[in-house]
Amino acid sequence: MQTIRNRLIIILVVCFSFIVGLTCVDYYHIFSLQKKLVLIEQLDDFKGDILELRRYEKNYFLTGNAIHFGQMDFYLSKTENSFLNLEKEMKDILNTSEYNQCAVALKVYHKILKHTEEAMDGGDSDVENLRATGAVLTAFSEKLINKKHIRIARVLRQMLIMPLAFSAGFIFLVIFVMHMTREDVLKPLSLLQIAAENASKGVFDPIGHVIRKKNEVSQCIAAFNKMVVEIDAGQEQLLQSRKLASIGTFTSGIAHELNNPINNISLIVDSLIEDGDTLLLAERMKLYNDLMDQAERSTEIVKNLLEFSRTDQGHFENISLEEMIEKTQRLLKNELSIKRVKFHVGVQENLPKVRIDKSRLQQALVNLLLNGIQAMPDGGILTLTIEADPESGGIRMDVRDTGMGIQKEQLDSIFDPFFTTKKEGEGTGLGLSVTYNIIQSHNGRISVKSTLGKGTCFSIFLPVKA
Ligand SMILES: Nc1ncnc2c1ncn2[C@@H]1O[C@H](COP(=O)(O)OP(=O)(O)OP(=O)(O)O)[C@@H](O)[C@H]1O
Ligand SMILES: [Mg+2]
Repeated sequence: MQTIRNRLIIILVVCFSFIVGLTCVDYYHIFSLQKKLVLIEQLDDFKGDILELRRYEKNYFLTGNAIHFGQMDFYLSKTENSFLNLEKEMKDILNTSEYNQCAVALKVYHKILKHTEEAMDGGDSDVENLRATGAVLTAFSEKLINKKHIRIARVLRQMLIMPLAFSAGFIFLVIFVMHMTREDVLKPLSLLQIAAENASKGVFDPIGHVIRKKNEVSQCIAAFNKMVVEIDAGQEQLLQSRKLASIGTFTSGIAHELNNPINNISLIVDSLIEDGDTLLLAERMKLYNDLMDQAERSTEIVKNLLEFSRTDQGHFENISLEEMIEKTQRLLKNELSIKRVKFHVGVQENLPKVRIDKSRLQQALVNLLLNGIQAMPDGGILTLTIEADPESGGIRMDVRDTGMGIQKEQLDSIFDPFFTTKKEGEGTGLGLSVTYNIIQSHNGRISVKSTLGKGTCFSIFLPVKA
């Protein structure tokens, strides 16, 4: 697997090789430059000896002074020694044939010099030939030095170019590493950050990033996606258990609600059994109709309850809110009367239809309304208002109570799961956290305002298109 760790190791090895390579190349250049400088000094000496030889040659033939001749002999043997010692280097700078030509010229010069010595003792001397051969030697030494200078200049150029080439390579490497880091680490990490922030707000969307390479980040994203799917599934279960908890809270109300029609039915049936024969047809018909009404009332209550506890999930539709509010009101009717809470509903007319998950939004409303009822143990007024919100262009729902209110320092925590101020067994602390998630999944938001001792108002803002 091409893990980020492996890639970092490769990059470090490449960087290290770059540095070692650059150091070696530099060292090699400096070393060879040093050798070349030493050699050029020797070649300079060689040339200097030839020039001295030529100077004494000129002086000797001008003055005929024997001292000058002695100097010529001295510098010729010096030149011959250097020529032999630097054979390899000279052949390397020029070539073997040029070296051999110079060797021949040296021999000829030597020979003519010997003849000249003999001429001083009465022999012949070939001055012109000596000068011509001397000129060959001078030209050879100059050529040597010129070529050596060219080579030194080339090494210096390489010494300048190599660091530039290495720097360019290094810049490419850095650009590649930055690109790789951005594509394979930073981009997916920022997606992960956004997804994690969304998850903290209750939106459990998996990251849709296409994982091209298998590395630590892609594994992290895969693990995150798996976690999000599982939490999302867990959310459904949580929602369902919340529903059951809410039903538990208003069961007494529902029992009471069902009890009434059942009592009425048994009373009507009793009177039919006892007085059925004596009653007029019209009176009997009225009792039958009453029976029917009571049975329908019971059916309606059970239907509401069943609808509320339904488990179908994520079903968004464009509906008007009035119907849902009416049903919610009916569910809580008896709870309200038991707790002596007056319930006012105000729905603005001609509200735009909103795209909502009916069952979930009802759950959110029930949670807020139950909290409101529970905040008014000695009775009070619970108000639900629904109106268009000109600011957001959506819909605003306010659930307001005249209860005890929420302490300032608790306001930040009330949406946290399991935060409750209620006695054990009375509250799980999940109501508001579930409500928050439901509103988030509608792309809406919820806020709260509360005054201690006066009451609390929860506001839900829903966009028209969720
Ligand atoms: N309308 C309100 N008035 C005063 N306090 C409130 C109101 N709504 C919520 N709270 C405070 O917020 C806390 C958390 O509410 P939440 O609905 O999440 O849990 P709960 O009501 O305690 O328990 P559960 O809803 O699970 O029965 C409550 O315990 C209460 O202290
Ligand atoms: Mg609650």
